[in-house]
Amino acid sequence: MKIFLLGATGFIGLHLLYSFRQKGCEVWALVRRPEKASLCPKGIQVLIGDPLSPGHWQDVCAGCDVVINLVGASIFSRWTERRKRLILETRLKSTQRVVEALRRRGYRGVFLNASAIGYYGADRGEEALVEESPAGDDFLAQVCQAWERKALGLAETGVRVCLLRFGVVLGKTGGALSRMLPAFRLGLGGPLGSGKQWFSWIHIKDVLKATHFLIAHHEAQGPFNLVSPHPVRQKELAKTLARVLRRPAFFPLPAFVLRLLLGEAAVFLTGSLKVLPQRLLSMGYEFLFPDLELALRDLR
Ligand SMILES: NC(=O)c1ccc[n+]([C@@H]2O[C@H](COP(=O)([O-])OP(=O)(O)OC[C@H]3O[C@@H](n4cnc5c(N)ncnc54)[C@H](OP(=O)(O)O)[C@@H]3O)[C@@H](O)[C@H]2O)c1
Repeated sequence: MKIFLLGATGFIGLHLLYSFRQKGCEVWALVRRPEKASLCPKGIQVLIGDPLSPGHWQDVCAGCDVVINLVGASIFSRWTERRKRLILETRLKSTQRVVEALRRRGYRGVFLNASAIGYYGADRGEEALVEESPAGDDFLAQVCQAWERKALGLAETGVRVCLLRFGVVLGKTGGALSRMLPAFRLGLGGPLGSGKQWFSWIHIKDVLKATHFLIAHHEAQGPFNLVSPHPVRQKELAKTLARVLRRPAFFPLPAFVLRLLLGEAAVFLTGSLKVLPQRLLSMGYEFLFPDLELALRDLR
């Protein structure tokens, strides 16, 4: 099987490269900065190119069986107007470039495009959110809706499109957990905001397993919540992480401090999202790490 990956040098992308290579697939990685090519495991075909601009990479992409797009400027920073534009543009343009490449060449494989549970908005309180739940209307929700609409443009031509609505992906080498671990290891961790808000997470190994599962299941298309079936409240996350690391977690970070530090982006940490993987479960997907404590023990 031939795989083409955009956003290959990011946190999730690198894990996917290793897992596809392990399965013996022919893997192409689009890398925008040559100095990052060395991060790719041996045996990967590296193409240097810009995912936001047309290029030779589009021909290679259209010749593969599976195309996965994970490109997106990080949301972990203060959302200035410039940053917000970059967050939106990197996602829309990269998706647009893939869609136009595949549409023009009569692609018949599968296209998996990243999205996020931010689709539902940053704060939905106690509501249990599944794939059919209505979208939110804040900045990230609007980004996710526009991003998904772009990808679904390809579905109109009969291509199978899966939208990967990632929850907070937990792994050692990137994402939210790698930012939290240093404070918790020093015994300086604690819940964010009120601690009552829901936190929807997934172990990186389940991201890999679920991605392979969706590729193999030819009936799978449309949005999929990539989250564990057991979301937790923020205070439970802090308590469990402290227990796993055998450290105290007495230091809450109040919402107003987060707002001072991050501005509008703080809502992403203080909001409550209780998201469930309804479609994956109904297709018979079995989680490797359904439970937070198990996941954190694997990652500590
Ligand atoms: N990790 C999570 O918890 C999580 C949760 C929800 C949604 N997602 C979404 O899933 C996708 C992958 O996540 P991740 O954690 O792997 O993200 P990541 O580590 O930040 O990687 C993002 C990728 O996008 C590329 N990129 C960033 N800015 C770019 C630009 N201006 N032009 C072209 N490419 C650019 C990066 O290239 P370089 O390597 O060259 O910088 C990298 O390959 C993202 O779209 C993210 O929004 C992730």
